[in-house]
Amino acid sequence: MKPGETVCVTGGSGFIGSWLVRLLLDRGYTVHATVQHLDDEAETKHLESLDGAQERLKLFQIDLLEPASLVAAIHGAAGVFHLASPCIVDLVHDPERQLIEPAVKGTLNVLRAAKENGVNRVVVTSSISAIIPSPKWPADVVKDESCWADLEYCKENGVWYPASKTMAEKAAWEFARENGLDVVVINPGTVMGPSIPPSINASMAMFRRLLEGCSEHYVNFFMGPVHVKDVALSHILVYENPAASGRHLCIESISHWSDFASKVAELYPEYKIPSFPKDTQPGLLRAQNPSKKLIELGMCFTPVEQIIKDSVDSLKSKGCI
Ligand SMILES: NC(=O)c1ccc[n+]([C@@H]2O[C@H](COP(=O)([O-])OP(=O)(O)OC[C@H]3O[C@@H](n4cnc5c(N)ncnc54)[C@H](OP(=O)(O)O)[C@@H]3O)[C@@H](O)[C@H]2O)c1
Repeated sequence: MKPGETVCVTGGSGFIGSWLVRLLLDRGYTVHATVQHLDDEAETKHLESLDGAQERLKLFQIDLLEPASLVAAIHGAAGVFHLASPCIVDLVHDPERQLIEPAVKGTLNVLRAAKENGVNRVVVTSSISAIIPSPKWPADVVKDESCWADLEYCKENGVWYPASKTMAEKAAWEFARENGLDVVVINPGTVMGPSIPPSINASMAMFRRLLEGCSEHYVNFFMGPVHVKDVALSHILVYENPAASGRHLCIESISHWSDFASKVAELYPEYKIPSFPKDTQPGLLRAQNPSKKLIELGMCFTPVEQIIKDSVDSLKSKGCI
C-alpha cells in the first residue's frame, strides 16, 4: 500500500473517480482506470490529459456485469478502488436492471476478481445513502457509521438509489467476511466541487437545480456536503493506512439541505435560492466534524463555503450556469 504500486480505479471516468485518478497519479501510483466506452472521448480525454497519465495511466473498458472485463482491469493491481455504480435518482422505471443489479452484482464481480488476482485491499465507495433514510434511528442520537439505511422503507417508498447502495455495501461486507478479503468502505455525503469530466454528475446537477431556483428538498438523499477532492483523498488515506477498517462517514458536517441552501443564498444573492423550512430532513440531528474516523487518519475537511465557491466556479467554467 504505497506509491509506486499499480492500483485499479473502477468508475475512473466519473466525478469522484477522475479526482481519485488525478491524486493517485500525483502520488506516483500506476493506475488502471475503467470506463464504459473506450471510444467515447467524453469518458477518456480528461483522464488522458492528467499529469503523469502518459507514463502511468492505462484505461480499460468494462461492463460491471461482465467478469472477464473486470479481470483484465484488475490483473496486476495491488489495490482496487471500486467506485463504478449507476447514480440515477430520477427516472427509475426498472430499479432492478438500472440500479440494483449493476450495484450489487457489479460489486461482487469486482471483489471476486480482486480475490482471484491476489489484491491486498479493496476500497469500496458506498454512500450516506447506505446510512439514510433510516427513520427508526433514535431521534436524540447523531447518525454515524453504525446506522444503516432502512431497506424496507426504501422499497416501500420507491427510493431505489439508497436501496442499491445499501444492498451493494452489505453484499461487499458479506463477501469480505466469507472470503477473507481486506475491504474498507467510504460513505461520502453529497459530493460537490470542481468537476474534471466534461459533463456534470448527479450531485452537481442537484446543486445546479438549487441555483436555478428548484425547491426540491432531497429528503432521502441529503445528509450534508463534502468536497470532491476530500472524498478522493479519503479513499487514498484508508488505502494507505493498514489500521483503517470498517465504514468511514465522509462528510464536512451533518446538516440539512435548508442549511446548505441558506449558505448558498448568503454567498450568491444574485441567484434565486428558494427559502426552505428549517428542517428539510426531519429528524436528522445536525453535527459538526462527524467524520471522526477519517479526521483521526489525518483528513482535514474543506469548509462548506469553499465547497460552494468551487462548485459555482466549476459550473460557470463549463457553461452550466
Ligand atoms: N456524487 C455523490 O454525491 C456521491 C455520494 C456518495 C457516494 N457516491 C458514489 O460514488 C461513486 C462515484 O459516483 P460519482 O458521483 O463520481 O458519479 P459519476 O460521475 O456518475 O460516476 C459513476 C461512474 O461509474 C461508472 N458506471 C456506472 N454504471 C456502470 C456500469 N454499469 N458499468 C461500468 N461502469 C459504470 C460510470 O461510467 P461512465 O462514465 O462510463 O458512465 C462512471 O465512471 C458511485 O459509487 C456513487 O454511488 C457518490
